[in-house]
Amino acid sequence: MAYLDEYQKSITDPATFWKEKAEALEWFKFPQQILSKDENGIDRWFADGEMNTCHMALDYHIAAGRGDQVAIYYDSPVTDTKKAYTYTELRDQVALFAGVLKAQGVSKGDRVVVYMPMVPEAAIAMLACSRLGAIHSVVFGGFAPNELAVRIDDAEPKVIVSSSCGIEIQKVIPYKPLLDEAINLSAHKPEKCIVFQRPQAEASMVEGRDLDWNEAMASATPADCVPVNGTDPLYVLYTSGTTGKPKGVVRDNGGHATALKYSMKAIYDMDPGDVFWAASDVGWVVGHSYIVYGPLLAGLSSVFYEGKPVRTPDAGAFWRVAEEYGVKGLFSAPTAFRAIKKEDPNSEQLKPYDLSKLKYIFMAGERLDPPTYHWVKDLLGLPVVDHWWQTETGWAICANLMGIEPREAKPGSATLPVPGFNVQILDNEGNEVGPNEQGNVAIKLPLPPSCLPTVWGDFERFRTGYLNEYAGYYVSGDGGYKDDDGFVFIMGRTDDVINVAGHRLSTGEMEEIVASHPAVAECAVIGVNDPLKGQMPLGMVLLKDGAEVDEAELESELVGMVRKEIGAVACFKKAIVVQRLPKTRSGKILRKLLRQIADGQEYTIPSTIDDPASLPEISDIMDSHGLVSR
Ligand code: COA
Ligand code: AMP
Repeated sequence: MAYLDEYQKSITDPATFWKEKAEALEWFKFPQQILSKDENGIDRWFADGEMNTCHMALDYHIAAGRGDQVAIYYDSPVTDTKKAYTYTELRDQVALFAGVLKAQGVSKGDRVVVYMPMVPEAAIAMLACSRLGAIHSVVFGGFAPNELAVRIDDAEPKVIVSSSCGIEIQKVIPYKPLLDEAINLSAHKPEKCIVFQRPQAEASMVEGRDLDWNEAMASATPADCVPVNGTDPLYVLYTSGTTGKPKGVVRDNGGHATALKYSMKAIYDMDPGDVFWAASDVGWVVGHSYIVYGPLLAGLSSVFYEGKPVRTPDAGAFWRVAEEYGVKGLFSAPTAFRAIKKEDPNSEQLKPYDLSKLKYIFMAGERLDPPTYHWVKDLLGLPVVDHWWQTETGWAICANLMGIEPREAKPGSATLPVPGFNVQILDNEGNEVGPNEQGNVAIKLPLPPSCLPTVWGDFERFRTGYLNEYAGYYVSGDGGYKDDDGFVFIMGRTDDVINVAGHRLSTGEMEEIVASHPAVAECAVIGVNDPLKGQMPLGMVLLKDGAEVDEAELESELVGMVRKEIGAVACFKKAIVVQRLPKTRSGKILRKLLRQIADGQEYTIPSTIDDPASLPEISDIMDSHGLVSR
């Protein structure tokens, strides 16, 4: 009953519910307006509250006696480094770096792009921005210069903070040349770049523009927290949409802090002093919410891991870290556990470790497939929590709430809506459908705290992309259903977004790149099932009449183009030539049908198809390339 009570309260009287949750934080001025409308008519939380997220995450805990507790454990098997920062040490570094930014003219509302690997300096830069009321925009290190340039042009940062390099499995990736190239490509130019030099690669500096992190810190004066309003933006995080232009998800300060603080106990059952480890990257929303802000807002110790689940150095890495820091809650993507299972199928590398402190495993980023669920559950004998969320919300929409009322999990389901999220399944006309019927997963307005109020610089894109389809609802872009017990099953995207190794990517964007090849007349890129990474992109191209190309050469050129434009993280490795693409009579490529063929699923031929003979033909071509899952 605890869950139902809590959930009902959040839906029937959201303002009272969230006012109570906001009281768990130290505001400079507690909001009087809990839920109000902004100039665009969007529901906003805590508009007149005055606060500072960095204060709530660091200074507050120090004043409350938590200064000597570890805030961040940095563990980097790729550089053989371990380091712990107490709350006081982290606050001092953050205040100093805020001083560095301030000296460069960064103030409230200015944007700062952070392009860094998993080094603590990335968290320090993020928190320093929030200390000043500046807006950070972290760009994942696996993105290529072009992607970074697009984000620089959209966010228009005054300063960019970067690092000389990142370290992947057995390779050093120099970031600074990528940054320099991005700045060459972008129309907007930052005034300054602050570069954290790492011994694995020395970055060359541009005179007059680039500053060395350590030198700047050595002469900086610490800066204090600047009060902001609850609705002022904390960060912009770009995520893939259906086109080549990523969407800048805007996160506010007040709603974000309130939701994350609440979630740390309600969903994750974490209490102050506990150790939480989100094995992700600060470049993704999971990293923002559950490596940096959530754990610190809740007074936890957060593990900051620069490594992979496997090959850094082995498949025992997760268990080693969990034991070493006494991790209570471990959060990663299903793909990470599939990678461990693949490399260590008999779990030999688990045996040396004592995991008695580990209580929960949380997974998100892609659907948790039942075989992986069972494997992890049987291996560890712990609750394995699949929870569904999006960059847009910043926290889980559906979950099994470990801190409120754990339920018996149903493999394949993200369990129940999290308090605040009125999740409904709608048919294409916008009517709510009954149990066990698949439809569009939507959230009835108002959205709870932390969800995006707009797309950076483009409110119309927010309205048309999320709100216009069904009046009174936010449309998630995912399809799924609820069963008779109200458990929610998320079955996959209904648009051109795919999830590769827990990384969200746009097939629409890949199509734009593939289509720009001189020999390509038309193309489709779809996500096909992959046993390790969940999904992988597959390109199908139709050649221009008379184009004479070697298919293998074309494939390698297309692979190179996507890698250059989006980055290695796109994992675009396969492109095949086809004679026809199945289309509707109005010319729309039937991508869903192509996915079903590749995944070896049954499909029904739509009555609107223009050329039914194209289907067996494509099926044969995929088959001849070994691309049809059996
Ligand atoms: N900087 C630079 N390059 C990066 C990068 C980064 N931060 N992250 C990934 N890449 C590169 C990789 O080196 C690889 O390059 P390659 O094609 O030259 O080998 C490519 O991008 C693809 O990376 P990835 O898909 O991560 O594959 P992988 O084989 O290196 O690792 C897994 C596979 C499963 C171990 C890894 O994807 C993983 O740990 N996934 C968990 C994902 C996760 O945490 N998601 C966040 C949501 S919770
Ligand atoms: P991102 O914005 O990168 O967090 O990706 C969000 C998308 O990932 C969602 O829209 C889903 O398609 C997918 N996703 C995330 N978590 C889950 C989950 N637990 N189950 C199913 N799909 C998920």
